[in-house]
Formats: sequence, structure tokens, C-alpha cells
Amino acid sequence: MEQHKMRIALLGMGTVGTGVVKLLREHYEIINMKTGLNVEVAKVLVRDASRSRPGLEDLPLTEEVNEILEDPSIQIVVELMGGIEPARSYMVAALRAGKTVVTANKDVVSEFGKDLYDAGDVGDAELYFEASVGGGIPVLRPLKESLSANKMQKVMGIVNGTTNYILTQMSQFGRPYEEALREAQALGYAEPDPTNDVQGFDAGRKLAILASIAFMSRVKPGMVYTEGITRITPRDIEYGKRFGWSVKLLAIGKEVDGQIEARVHPAFIASEHPLAAVAGSLNAIFAVGDPVGETMFYGRGAGAGPTASSVVGDLIAAALSKRTPGRRAGDACTCLFHKQVMDIGQVVSRYYLRLSCADQSGVLARIAEAFGAEDVSIANMVQGSGGPDREDTGEDAELVLVTHSVLEAKLQAVVRRLQSIPEVLAVENVIRVEA
Ligand SMILES: NC(=O)c1ccc[n+]([C@@H]2O[C@H](COP(=O)([O-])OP(=O)(O)OC[C@H]3O[C@@H](n4cnc5c(N)ncnc54)[C@H](OP(=O)(O)O)[C@@H]3O)[C@@H](O)[C@H]2O)c1
Repeated sequence: MEQHKMRIALLGMGTVGTGVVKLLREHYEIINMKTGLNVEVAKVLVRDASRSRPGLEDLPLTEEVNEILEDPSIQIVVELMGGIEPARSYMVAALRAGKTVVTANKDVVSEFGKDLYDAGDVGDAELYFEASVGGGIPVLRPLKESLSANKMQKVMGIVNGTTNYILTQMSQFGRPYEEALREAQALGYAEPDPTNDVQGFDAGRKLAILASIAFMSRVKPGMVYTEGITRITPRDIEYGKRFGWSVKLLAIGKEVDGQIEARVHPAFIASEHPLAAVAGSLNAIFAVGDPVGETMFYGRGAGAGPTASSVVGDLIAAALSKRTPGRRAGDACTCLFHKQVMDIGQVVSRYYLRLSCADQSGVLARIAEAFGAEDVSIANMVQGSGGPDREDTGEDAELVLVTHSVLEAKLQAVVRRLQSIPEVLAVENVIRVEA
């Protein structure tokens, strides 16, 4: 096979950067045999070049980004620093200089994707970001390329391993949220400050990227309705099991009548749904298109090796594209429409509600009245008392209600009505039920 040398630079040499260098070295022959590429790491930007990096002593380190940006022999820049700045500025500068950029940075891609594409349009640079969603799972390029003939209807994913690990522990062992979180932190699955993960912000950024690609219209993180997992209790999970459901933090994107739904929140799904089987820190993205129907992409959403697999896959695609001049349609921006992102109040879903009520006659009738007043019909009801995390005092009762599909705004109106009934002591939880 004809041999081609490709000089690349890395920005950042942390977990993923180290994984990329290792993979390029260990699988050099496989890559070369398949593609004829001879990838040379020409420069690596680090903050402190004097720091000891065992096994990586021979890397050509620099603390000066212009040594990369101004070197015309470097054709591809791989950004693995993370964060918004200076990563965004360095990527824009590289693209403007005609260098293709490969990145794993969901923060920059979700918020500034258009700026990056615009910067690349000036020259013949391209942008690749497979690792920014789902770590090692190939999903963005399959959506852009393999499924490009489809009209996508839905993308629904478990795209945050930390929260999936916590919810799995809660479901399998009945652990309360705080205990499962502490365990996830001890194992390194959760950060010391877990806010980004447990409040759904990380999943929101990934959904923004997924939805933008699936529905060909830019969705930014601020447009995604986001709700975290901190209010989920083992009690809700137990009730869910009685109905044949599992709870997951879902990132849901849909196109409905030309508008986009983009939301991240915990939801019950049927235990037979393929996403219900995605346990621990694993990720999966379920995508539905016309005419392909249902597809699912499954695997490791993080970690040095899996993420490096996606980055190097992008790097190879980028290098092959550089070798053959002329942009490949799959790597161009496909946000060609301006579709409205729906307010959460316009979303239609089924809902699970768990109420604490005074154990008195007539309460049920008042609750039913609240639902009736908003024209929300109840599909199922279970009366409970006591349980694993609740003592049976005999003075109050627990009521779990499941609605038929209803507009979220109507359900919120029902919740307000319930909160004004003196015998309803608390609306303990409201969880969406995804069909
Ligand atoms: N880790 C994963 O499993 C995973 C999965 C999917 C996507 N990602 C994404 O991949 C990217 C990298 O993640 P990571 O886990 O490898 O992070 P990391 O371990 O924190 O590595 C980032 C590296 O970038 C360096 N860096 C930061 N700012 C720099 C600057 N201004 N100049 C030079 N070097 C700089 C840091 O240097 P210092 O050591 O001096 O701070 C650090 O070594 C992020 O965008 C992340 O979201 C990661």
C-alpha cells in the first residue's frame, strides 16, 4: 500500500492524551497496514514540560502553542485539554490555519460548534469530535454517515456513566442515593464535586451535540431541559419495579411536528427496553430513524482506552481525508435548519407521582378531583404503607399514581392543585415514564 506520512500535534497530555499516544504506538502496524498512514506525533502542548512522564520521555513537548499553530508541516491538531478556554481559541486558530481539528471536548463542541465549523470553512480544515459523546462508542459518525439517508425521529441515550453507576447500585442493592454516590466517588467514577454529572449538565451537553446532528438544527446546552438524579429514592425504584420499569437518567431528543424536544431527566422505562439492560458505568444511545427503525450503540462512555479509540478513529479519518483533497460531506456541518426547541411544558409524557396523604376518608376523592379538573386521566394507582425507607405510622398513607400521556403543563397544574389539598402532606416525587 502507498505510504503517507502525517504530522500531527496533541494539545494536552492527560488521561486521554496519554491513551492516544499509547494506542498510536501499540497499534502502529494495524493502522499502517489498514491505511498506509505513518502518523508522527510532531509536537505535544503541555503546561509543564519539565514534569516527569514515565514512558513518554521521548515525546516532543512544548509549552508554546504557536510552535504548533505556526508549523505548516503539522496538518492535524488533536485537542485533549478539556474546558472552554484556551481550548476553544486554540481550535479556532488551528482551523483558521488550515489544520484539521480532532477533539473530545463536549463543552466547546456543544456551545461553540458553529464557530469551529466557520473557522474551518475559511481553509480546507475539517472538524471531528466522535469522542465528545459516548467516549469509545461510535455514534456521531454513524449518525452523520451510515444513517445519513434517514430522517431521524428520536435519539435517547444513557450518556453519563457516573449517574448510571449510581442508579444501578440503587436499583440492584436498594442503596440510598448518598451512599451510592460515595461509593462511585471512592471508585473514581464520580468527581469530588459531582454536580456536573448528577445534575445532568454533562448529559445535557452531549444531548445538545446528538440532537444537533440527528435533527440537522443547532441545539445548544442552554436549550436542553435538565433535571438530575438527586431526588430519586430506593422507594421510587421499588414502586417502579412493581410496574415493570427501571429508572435511568435519559438524554432524550425527538422531532415532533417540525419542533425539537431536548431533555435530560431521570425516567422510568420498561424493563424490556434495550436501554434498561445498560448497567453500571456503561453508556448506550438508542436511535430511531426512517427507514432504518430502531438502532442502538453501546459501550464504554469514558476511560483512556475507549476514548482514545474514538480519537484515533477520527484521526485516521481526518488523515485519509487530508490525503485525498476535497471535503467529505459527512464531516461538514449539517445544521441546515432552524427548528424550534420546545419548552418542557409542551412535552407529552406519562407521569409517576408518589404522594404522602393523611389516612382519612374522602382524600382519594379530592385527589381524583385535582386530576379531573385538569383533564388528566389516571392509568394506575397503588396504595402503600411502610416499606424499606419509610415507617408505617398508621397516620398517613402513601399513594402512587401513574397517568396516561398528558401535556407536562397540565401535569404541573395537577401538582399545584395537589399541593393545595391539606390532606396531601407532600408530593414526594414526580418521575416521567418514557413510553
Ligand atoms: N477521560 C475520559 O474518559 C474522557 C471521555 C470522553 C471525553 N473526554 C474529554 O477529553 C478531554 C480530556 O480529558 P482528560 O480526561 O484527558 O483530562 P485530563 O486528564 O485532565 O487531561 C487534560 C490535560 O490537558 C492539560 N492542559 C490543560 N490546559 C492546558 C493548557 N492551557 N496548556 C497545555 N496543557 C493543558 C492538563 O495539564 P495539567 O496536567 O498541567 O493540568 C492535562 O494534562 C476533555 O475534553 C474531556 O471532556 C474525556
